Amino acid sequence: MTPSEASRLVAEEAKTWRREIHQHPELLFDLPRTAALVAEKLKAFGCDEVVTGIAQSGVVAVIAGKRGPGRTIAFRCDMDALPMSEQTNLPYASKVPNMMHACGHDGHTAIMLGAAKRFAAERDFAGKIVLVFQPAEEGGGGGRVMLEERLLDRFGIEEVYGMHNQPGLDVGSFAIRSGPMMAAGDRFVIAITGLGGHAATPHLARDPLLAASHLVVALQSIASRFIDPLDSVVVSVTFISGGDRRALNVIPSTVEIGGSVRTMQPSTRRAVEQRFREIVKTTAALYGAEAEIDWRPGYPVTVNNPEKTSAAIAAAQSIVGQERVDGNWPMTMGSEDFSYMLEKRPGAMIWLGNGDSADLHNPAYDFNDNAIAYGIDYWAALVAQRLS
Ligand code: NI
Repeated sequence: MTPSEASRLVAEEAKTWRREIHQHPELLFDLPRTAALVAEKLKAFGCDEVVTGIAQSGVVAVIAGKRGPGRTIAFRCDMDALPMSEQTNLPYASKVPNMMHACGHDGHTAIMLGAAKRFAAERDFAGKIVLVFQPAEEGGGGGRVMLEERLLDRFGIEEVYGMHNQPGLDVGSFAIRSGPMMAAGDRFVIAITGLGGHAATPHLARDPLLAASHLVVALQSIASRFIDPLDSVVVSVTFISGGDRRALNVIPSTVEIGGSVRTMQPSTRRAVEQRFREIVKTTAALYGAEAEIDWRPGYPVTVNNPEKTSAAIAAAQSIVGQERVDGNWPMTMGSEDFSYMLEKRPGAMIWLGNGDSADLHNPAYDFNDNAIAYGIDYWAALVAQRLS
């Protein structure tokens, strides 16, 4: 099925906004140009309220329906790019060295602007739509900061919905799943302190390298021996540092290791962290060393609410038909900042087909402009589902 006439018209314009944003990528919370473009458009469309400066460069617009009072629901998109060099050779490629929209947030922003234009003009719903344009999805936790700045209470948000493009999924197709959809991503750095000494007299030292080596292996027992094999857990040690190649006859006094932990259930996330701490402490102690853990919590598990997922599926099916909506899409071990909003309010995040493109975060990636009209149609269909 093709997108609606109304969305196709707006999508033509949105394509030019998307390419404008694409040429001028900005990072994390520092999005002056992108946020200004977004706010200027939202004001021009006649939104009832346009608030800037939430979480530094976040923008929020409110549009009230003409059919009277009703629910207040939020649609959220992300605006930030990545610190990498674009290799697409497109005429509208990034003009900023080492910055690139390689995750399609330029497309998500353009879709939301297109939807805003339609909603502000049509207003054919009851209640309120709150459009949230967030900074710093790529590692900065911009969504979390918006929550800390009281986004949900300030605008009376009752439900939250998100959308992200998906390479490999046909344009005009959608995919989603109820419950956990994306992983929690936590990081760690462990400093192991022993007692340095001469390599010839190890009994007079407490070797932190041996402790670290055993620890790298022992940490693998979390996923393989302590968690249900049907529940996905990844523990990756990705960094190790200690000793000096110019002093091969010296046992160092400290070694650092670091890495990443991914889990798919909030309860598993807590259990893994607890087991992790026990293993680190006891393994270090086994070799007479001490370990200090710097645990760095990342984005939580992305959990879709079952009822809101059904609404999202119904909305997507209403525009592209049943067979182009996969309601049981596999979980992925990537993680997503929208999780914080889903922890506080019921909602759902959906994948939008980006066609046969390069993968996300790849230097050859580009958002597919043909997906814009479908994205706008999805937001409009969700309004029909939740605010009619
Ligand atoms: Ni992304």
